[in-house]
Amino acid sequence: MTSSPAPLRFSAFVMYTASHIQHGLWRHPDARQADFEDVGLWVDLARTLERGGFDAMFFADVVGVYGGAGAAYDINAREGLQLPSHDPSVLLSALAVSTEHLGLAFTSSTLQAHPFEFARRVSTLDHISRGRIGWNIVTSHLENAARNFGHDRLLDHDERYAQAQEYLDVAYKLWEGSWDDGALLKDRQGAYADPAGIHRIDHHGRWYDVEGPHLVSPSPQRTPLLFQAGASPAGAAFAARNAEASFILAPDRERARDIVANGKRLAVEAGRSADDISYYQGITFIIGSTEEEARRKEAEIDEYLSADAFFVHSNLGTDQRTGQPIPPDTLLKDVPTQGGQGQLEWLRQLSPDREPTVADLARLSAKLRGRIVGTPEQIADELDAWREVGVAGINVMNWMIPSSYEEFIDHVMPVLRRRGLAAEGYTEGTLRRKLTGRDTLPDTHPAARYRGAFA
Ligand SMILES: Cc1cc2nc3c(=O)[nH]c(=O)nc-3n(C[C@H](O)[C@H](O)[C@H](O)COP(=O)(O)O)c2cc1C
Repeated sequence: MTSSPAPLRFSAFVMYTASHIQHGLWRHPDARQADFEDVGLWVDLARTLERGGFDAMFFADVVGVYGGAGAAYDINAREGLQLPSHDPSVLLSALAVSTEHLGLAFTSSTLQAHPFEFARRVSTLDHISRGRIGWNIVTSHLENAARNFGHDRLLDHDERYAQAQEYLDVAYKLWEGSWDDGALLKDRQGAYADPAGIHRIDHHGRWYDVEGPHLVSPSPQRTPLLFQAGASPAGAAFAARNAEASFILAPDRERARDIVANGKRLAVEAGRSADDISYYQGITFIIGSTEEEARRKEAEIDEYLSADAFFVHSNLGTDQRTGQPIPPDTLLKDVPTQGGQGQLEWLRQLSPDREPTVADLARLSAKLRGRIVGTPEQIADELDAWREVGVAGINVMNWMIPSSYEEFIDHVMPVLRRRGLAAEGYTEGTLRRKLTGRDTLPDTHPAARYRGAFA
């Protein structure tokens, strides 16, 4: 007898801004994301997701505007395209005290915060949330972001991953090695903490010098749950070494099967177990009680889509280094790019008949972002097929906040539960325990070598 496959995990992919990836929809009368600065919107959404049994709420983030160095940002402003956008790590504090089980993941770039400061902030959040924090590790692909942090330009693509690895090593040392278990005593007759159990890390590397010790006592997970979304060979290798979950936007299931198999193989080559990394496919949903109703809603949503914003967000409409516009009839293969190389390759494969141009991009991106349109039963059939190719979870992208999630939770989740495609209820404990059965990283993870290393 074969055991039944594990239920899928569900993460809500959001951003602390009005227009994240489905641009133009903030104008829809049912959308509330135009008022994203209202903390109540997010508290209500987090509670809705928890009621619906979602495993995590995952915030994207960037620290610059799309469009290259010195580029104009008039479309960004007009479309609310991640401008304004607020700091998700601050918001997570409010969400942590408003929920009990929901995982709270946020994106932070290895460009934006010094690893000592970042490690301290994450440990603090992990305490506040009682162990429910996840970190999506990104290296930044926006030239404007580099200039916001005092650099002339981004490091070259693979060099950014090399820097990110050192950044992680610093953070791992602080999270895993700086404090021994049991060093926090709180002995009213004696010491608050045992100095012999608290260690400097004395990190001296190519990019960072950090003495330590870590200023925060060990939080429930120590290292937050590690997410990553790299698609290039360097990105996939980085994820295989470090990530516990990887976000993918595979254009189809066959491609997803390859990505999952390749990532797990790389993880094993890096000394980890194939089960140490899992993959979450990003999907949007348009749900109807009949297929006709779903198609009607799809046509309505399409009327709101902003081609201008998709185009700017693609980051291919301007030369990143000079900020000069790229003519729309430029072939995609001729566009100089510093990020998203994997995505560029997929875009090409979506139009095998001819080499796509920059102008084709908005249309291709909509297709790339795999949407499923149909009844709850049809959606369940599709998700069953995604589970079949080895993805562990679905990163649910939205059109409208909060209604995209309310509809999914009220109409699709019950069908998924009935069919064993979604879990019933939460496991107690930390986010890592809920997803992997343990509170801290396994011994096979590279961070584990720092345990006891500074004693
Ligand atoms: C689902 C998903 C979410 C992502 N979220 C962010 C984000 O919030 N901020 C960011 O700077 N990059 C984000 N990225 C971009 C990735 O970090 C990465 O730069 C991109 O996938 C290209 O990978 P590569 O450089 O290895 O080709 C995301 C990518 C995917 C697929």
